[in-house]
Amino acid sequence: MNAHGGGDETGGDGAAGITVGPLEFADAHSCAALERLLFAGESPWPAAAFAEELRAPHTRFFAARRSCPQRRRPWLVGYAGIALLGGAEPEAEVHTIGVDPKVQGRGIGRRLMALLLAEADAHGGPVFLDVRTDNEPAIALYRSEGFENIGMRPRYYQPSGADAYVMRRRAAEDTDGKEAAR
Ligand SMILES: CC(C)(COP(=O)(O)OP(=O)(O)OC[C@H]1O[C@@H](n2cnc3c(N)ncnc32)[C@H](O)[C@@H]1OP(=O)(O)O)[C@@H](O)C(=O)NCCC(=O)NCCS
Repeated sequence: MNAHGGGDETGGDGAAGITVGPLEFADAHSCAALERLLFAGESPWPAAAFAEELRAPHTRFFAARRSCPQRRRPWLVGYAGIALLGGAEPEAEVHTIGVDPKVQGRGIGRRLMALLLAEADAHGGPVFLDVRTDNEPAIALYRSEGFENIGMRPRYYQPSGADAYVMRRRAAEDTDGKEAAR
């Protein structure tokens, strides 16, 4: 467990028992329940919105699941999704990422982000996202994965009216070029 972590009633032992893989239609209601917890003041996505995202041909969604001996089936503890956009000039946009507060700070967000970025790198081009300017955990995660602030959207989130930073991670090939030029 890292410095941000906390225990939970299922035997808080770090990231043990956590697996990541594709998000499925059957997860839509669990996602919506987590959304209500994580984004209460900002129009949390209902199950139908997750189902719609999963149906879209240009999106990729992943789940983190937890299993423990006391429960018969693994249950959803995190989700993340990205849209792969553009034609000749590809780009990607992170649509969402969330981890159950009971298991935050155990590396699950980073594992989900790694899956999104692997999709983005295979697709090519830069990756964009919006994040509340006061969301320090998310901003720290994004910065550590190579995102930088490129702008701000005042009162972007509703109904809270919170501001958003626009962040961008350069295309992997641009970063490689910079490294090569040094
Ligand atoms: C942002 C979020 C997905 C991170 O998930 P997580 O599983 O807790 O994150 P991880 O344990 O993988 O941590 C990855 C990095 O995030 C940052 N981070 C995570 N929690 C943090 C905290 N409480 N304070 C500061 N930085 C934090 C750190 O850089 C951390 O790296 P480190 O462990 O090497 O220090 C999670 O906090 C969350 O679900 N937040 C609510 C939903 C949300 O805001 N989503 C983003 C919308 S734009």
